[in-house]
Amino acid sequence: MDRRTLLCGLLALTACGTGSPTRKPGVGSARPGDRVAALADVPVGSGALVDVGGDGQLLLVRPSESEVRAFHPACPHQGTTVNPPAAGVITCPTHRSAFDPASGAVLSGPSPRGLTEVAVAVSGPEVVLS
Ligand code: FES
Repeated sequence: MDRRTLLCGLLALTACGTGSPTRKPGVGSARPGDRVAALADVPVGSGALVDVGGDGQLLLVRPSESEVRAFHPACPHQGTTVNPPAAGVITCPTHRSAFDPASGAVLSGPSPRGLTEVAVAVSGPEVVLS
């Protein structure tokens, strides 16, 4: 078997996989274990919006050196992308709903519910989906 045939076979096996990928709100086509961001790109005491899995986006929040949380960044009120935490609060720029960065819970404003949390973990220098 030549190198090209072997490579094509491996690509075909990868394409078959074990079924359709598990999708979660905000993660696009990313799967558990996939890298979301470099830990260094998420400021301590604040956070960052990151593109994930092609068409997904997450809001990463870093309350301490070793802890990172992730939320679907669409505001539950009308879908505006919320801002990373500033002065200890996540805010929606459209109608000013405010959310707790520790839990995603609504603190004030018209949002009918909190932000949806997505499970992530710190793995060495990276943030990965759990
Ligand atoms: S869209 Fe966020 S508060 Fe209205």
